[in-house]
Amino acid sequence: MNKQTTLIIGASSAIAKALAAQVIADPDAELVLVSRDVSYYQSAEFEHAKLVRVSDYQEAEIGLAVARIQRATESDIARVFICHGVLHNDNCQPEKRLEDFSAASFTEIVSANTITPMLWLKSLMPILTGRQKCKVVVFSARVGSIADNAIGGWYSYRASKAAMNMLLKSAAVELARRAKNIKLISFHPGTTDTPLSKPFQRSVPDGKLFTSEFVAEQLLSIVADTPVDGTASFLDWQGKTIPW
Ligand SMILES: NC(=O)c1ccc[n+]([C@@H]2O[C@H](COP(=O)([O-])OP(=O)(O)OC[C@H]3O[C@@H](n4cnc5c(N)ncnc54)[C@H](OP(=O)(O)O)[C@@H]3O)[C@@H](O)[C@H]2O)c1
Repeated sequence: MNKQTTLIIGASSAIAKALAAQVIADPDAELVLVSRDVSYYQSAEFEHAKLVRVSDYQEAEIGLAVARIQRATESDIARVFICHGVLHNDNCQPEKRLEDFSAASFTEIVSANTITPMLWLKSLMPILTGRQKCKVVVFSARVGSIADNAIGGWYSYRASKAAMNMLLKSAAVELARRAKNIKLISFHPGTTDTPLSKPFQRSVPDGKLFTSEFVAEQLLSIVADTPVDGTASFLDWQGKTIPW
C-alpha cells in the first residue's frame, strides 16, 4: 500500500496527542504535527514524525507553516485533523447569562475556534487539492448545533462552533465543484477528559466522560468509513449525524 501522510494541527490538544500516538503506531503512516508547543513530541515514540512549530496562528505564520508542511511531506496528505478549541482560559469563561457576554472574550474565542481553523482550510487547499482522497476533520462540539440548543448558555463557544459549521457547509459546496477529492467532517468528540472540559466534569453522568484514547480510536475508524461525497458531515464520536 502507498504511504499516506496524516497532518495534525493544534497538536498539543489532549485528543490530538492520543490521535498522534495511534497514527504513529502504524509503520506505514507518515505524520506531520503542527503546534505552538511541540515539546511533547520530542521523544523516541515520535522520532519519525515531522514537527512544525508555529509562533502563533496569524495568517502569515499559517502561510509559512503550510510551506514547511509541504517540504516535510513525502506522500499525499490523506487525513487532516484541525484540533483548535478554547472554552476557557485566563481571559475567558463560558457565559452563564447574558450579562457575562463580553466583546473581548467573544473575539478571542471566535479567533481560536473559527477563524484559525478556517485560515488553515484556506491555506492548505492548494496542497490538498488533487487526485488523492483527503478527509479534513475540524473539531466542533454538539453545543454548536443550532437545532440541538435546548439549554442555552456558553454563548461565545456555541456561536464559534456554529459559525465554524456554517463555514464548513459553505466550503463543501465550493469544494464539490473545485476539489472533489476533499471531504469535510465537523466532529464532536463527546465530553472527553482534557484540560478543556476539566472544570465542567462534575455534571457528566457516569460512563460519559471519555478518554482521549477512546475518542481517537473512534475518530480514526469514523474517518476511514466516511465516504468522500461532496458534502460536509457533522458527526459525533459514534459516527452518528448531528443536526446542524
Ligand atoms: N474535551 C472535550 O470534552 C470536548 C468536547 C467537545 C468538543 N471538544 C473540541 O475538541 C477539540 C480538542 O479539544 P481538547 O479537549 O483536546 O483541547 P485541549 O487539550 O484544551 O487543546 C487545546 C487546543 O486548542 C488550541 N489553542 C489553544 N489556544 C488557542 C488560541 N488562542 N488560538 C488557536 N488555537 C488555540 C491548541 O493549539 P496548540 O497545539 O497550538 O497549543 C490545542 O489544539 C476542540 O476543538 C474542542 O472544542 C472538546
